[in-house]
Amino acid sequence: MGRQLGYRLRLFGWALSLITLGVLALALLGFVAVGTVSIAVWVGLPILLLSVRGVRLVADAHRRFATSLLGEPVESPYLKPVRGNLLVRLRAVASDPATWRDLVWLLFASTVGLLLSLLALVESVLDLIFWWLPPGGLLTLQARLCRAMLRPTDRTRSAQRIQQLTESRALTVDTNAAELRRIERDLHDGAQARLVAIGMNLGLAEELLARDPESARQLLTEARESNSIALAELRDLVRGIHPPVLADRGLVGAVQALALAAPVPVEVHTDLDERLAAPVESAAYFSIAEALANVIKHSGADQASVRLGRGADALDIQVQDNGVGGADAENGTGLRGIARRLAAFDGTLTLTSPTGGPTTLVMVLPCALSSPKTLPSSGTA
Ligand SMILES: Nc1ncnc2c1ncn2[C@@H]1O[C@H](COP(=O)(O)OP(=O)(O)OP(=O)(O)O)[C@@H](O)[C@H]1O
Ligand SMILES: [Mg+2]
Repeated sequence: MGRQLGYRLRLFGWALSLITLGVLALALLGFVAVGTVSIAVWVGLPILLLSVRGVRLVADAHRRFATSLLGEPVESPYLKPVRGNLLVRLRAVASDPATWRDLVWLLFASTVGLLLSLLALVESVLDLIFWWLPPGGLLTLQARLCRAMLRPTDRTRSAQRIQQLTESRALTVDTNAAELRRIERDLHDGAQARLVAIGMNLGLAEELLARDPESARQLLTEARESNSIALAELRDLVRGIHPPVLADRGLVGAVQALALAAPVPVEVHTDLDERLAAPVESAAYFSIAEALANVIKHSGADQASVRLGRGADALDIQVQDNGVGGADAENGTGLRGIARRLAAFDGTLTLTSPTGGPTTLVMVLPCALSSPKTLPSSGTA
C-alpha cells in the first residue's frame, strides 16, 4: 500500500514536471521560429544555437522520464558537439539527423504533449483520491510516445558511428605520424650520430695508422665502443617498435614479464590462451606497460593487478592498484597516449580514480577472439 502511494505521488510529480517541460518546449518552439526568421541577420545564429541546446536539454529530460517509467533505457542520439565559430557549429547541428527529429518532437511536445500532461495531472490527482483505479495510464502513453520519437534510430546511430570512426581515424593518423617522428628523431640523434662519429674515427685512424699507430689504436677502440652503443640503441629502438618478449612469449607472457620486473607486487589473472594479431598484442602490451609505469611512479600502491580477459569480440584489460588515486589524464601524456593507442582499434579507456584510491583502468580492445575453451587457465606472476 505504502509503495502504491509512493508510486502515485511520483506520477503526480512527473505530471507536474512534464507540464513545466511542455511550457518550456512551447517557449523553445517560439525561439526556434524567431531564430529561423532572423537567420538572415546575424542575430538568428546564436538564437538558433541556444534554442537547439535548450531543446536537447528538454528532450533529454523526457528521455529520463521515459527511461524511469518504462524501465528501459532511452539513449541520447546526438553527435558530439564540434568546436568552431557560430556558423560551423550551426552547420554541424543541422547535419545531425537527431536535430530534425527533435524539431518534429518539439511540435508534438508543445501541443499534444502539453495537453496530455495536463490530462495526466488530472488523472494522477484522481489516482491519489481513488486508490483502486489503475494508475498512470496517460503518463505511460506519453512515455511510449516520447520513446518512439526520441530514441536513436538507425540513421542517428550510423551518424554517431561515422563520427566516432572519423575521429578514431584522425587519431590513428596522428599517432602514426607522431610515432614515425619519434623513430626518426631517435635514429637521427642516436644511431645515426654515432655512425657518423665511427666513420670519422675510422677515417682518422686510417690516416694515422702508418705515422702514429698508438693514436690510431685509440681511435679504433673509440670506434668499437661507439659501435656497441649504436647497436644497443638500435636494439632499444626495435624493442620499442615490437618488443622481442612479445614476439616470443605472446601477450600473457610479456605482461607476466612486466609484472615480475615491477618493484610493486603485480598479480596477473587471465583466461586468454591464444595469440592475438600482432598490432593488437602490441597496443595492449604498451598500454599495460604505461599503466604499470604509472602505478610505480604515482600511486604509492603496495599491490596491483592486471586482468586480461575475453569480452564480446574484444580483449578486456583491467589494471588496478590500491594506491592514492587521483589520476587525471589531463596532467600528462601517458594516459592520453593509451586512449589514442586504443582508439586506433576502435577501443576505449575508462579511468576510475577517486582521491584516496583505488585506481582502475579498464581498456577494451576490439579484436577477433576464438571461442572460449570450457576450462579457463589462470596464472599469477
Ligand atoms: N595509478 C595512478 N595512481 C595515482 N595517480 C596516477 C596514476 N596514474 C596516473 N596518475 C596521475 O595522473 C597523471 C597523468 O598520468 P599520465 O600517465 O598521463 O602522465 P605522467 O605519468 O605524469 O607522465 P607521462 O606522460 O610520462 O606518462 C599523473 O601525473 C599522476 O599524477
Ligand atoms: Mg604516465
